[in-house]
Amino acid sequence: TANILTDSHGRHHNYLRISLAERCNLRCQYCMPPEGVPLSHSSKLLTDEEIIRLVRLFVKNGVNKVRLTGGEPLLRPNLVSLVRSISDTLTLSSDSLDMAQNGLVGITTNGVSLSRQIDTLVEAGLTGVNISLDTLSADRFMDITRRNGLDKVMRAIGDSIHAFRNRYGDVRLGPNGSGGSRVKINCVVMKGVNDDELSDFVRMGNDMFGGDVDIRFIEWMPFNDNSWSTSKFVSYTDMMDKMRTEGTSLERIGDGPNDTTKWWRVQTSLQGSERSSRIGFITSMSEHFCSSCNRLRITADGKIKVCLFGSNEKEVSLRDIMRKHHENGIAEEEELGKVIYAAVQKKKFALGGHGSAESIAQAADNRPM
Ligand code: GTP
Ligand code: 5AD
Ligand code: SF4
Repeated sequence: TANILTDSHGRHHNYLRISLAERCNLRCQYCMPPEGVPLSHSSKLLTDEEIIRLVRLFVKNGVNKVRLTGGEPLLRPNLVSLVRSISDTLTLSSDSLDMAQNGLVGITTNGVSLSRQIDTLVEAGLTGVNISLDTLSADRFMDITRRNGLDKVMRAIGDSIHAFRNRYGDVRLGPNGSGGSRVKINCVVMKGVNDDELSDFVRMGNDMFGGDVDIRFIEWMPFNDNSWSTSKFVSYTDMMDKMRTEGTSLERIGDGPNDTTKWWRVQTSLQGSERSSRIGFITSMSEHFCSSCNRLRITADGKIKVCLFGSNEKEVSLRDIMRKHHENGIAEEEELGKVIYAAVQKKKFALGGHGSAESIAQAADNRPM
């Protein structure tokens, strides 16, 4: 059904990504410079209440999946109550009695401070967590993130599996746990940095976490100030070749309809016992998935961003509209609806209108994840 979230290419956007904080407690090389990114004054950031108002509007128009991102979303005060409100909004809008059919509210985090919050977040309605982890070596973790924390992230992965299993009986989605894991690891692969660790990641997933996590290897994307270069880029086919050379056998399995990930099943054996798990590749650069894109983003300062690779000047402030209307909910909703519709209509078919993945690296105005 066509509505304000359907674009001129017929794509319906049912997946909203909301940045809750610009700050981060790590300084990953592939994401930002050592001094961090310039931060907005806190008064410029959306309040909890503004976020909920926006979520209600988007859910009314068909959004059924919300992902909380950053910066680092765990740095947001009152995160638990925010998750509860979003979860309630998604549940109330669903006409399904089946919990698996209800909306999803996930978080993408570096995991450093996740262990102490995961139980309350899951209890509040969190349905999944994506944890960024790019190396299994403590020294390299320090090189890549410019901070300590590997042991905390590892603990957070185990604690997350445990929390979801306690809450849902299974860490996997789908009938009888046939689907993807609620706990995914995101690993951005860079040549000479961590491209020798892919098989180690697979073994860790199977041996340490019993195949309960899905591991996704991600092609490194160019953003302002992240010093992207083709010489450090590794395509997903190169990643697969490397793993096969190291003796890992991969079997292709199906992807979800709007999945960014191409999924495979891997088998390993430890002391004679066979284990298997899912690994995937996010191929934003070598084989983009824009034709099935279902995502819209809201920045921490309240701008709508219709494409990850769209330039900043095209972002429109939803915050300013909300702050203008004060208590007049009807006028506010009407104006928000118009502005969102106009932004969605301008969405380019692929890569934010950049002719090719390589040309994104030359774009001047392209803010990081
Ligand atoms: P799921 O909903 O669990 O599939 O998560 P996700 O992959 O949508 O989001 P996540 O925050 O875990 O991001 C993982 C990776 O997906 C990022 O490193 C990006 O490479 C890629 N990604 C996320 N959103 C977009 C997007 O809108 N466009 C493109 N091209 N890539 C994206
Ligand atoms: N290329 C690919 N992925 C990136 N991420 C951050 N910066 C980049 C980049 N330049 C990843 C993080 C996190 C997810 C939200 O995006 O590792 O897992
Ligand atoms: Fe969607 Fe833009 Fe990402 Fe392509 S690059 S998948 S259009 S957000």
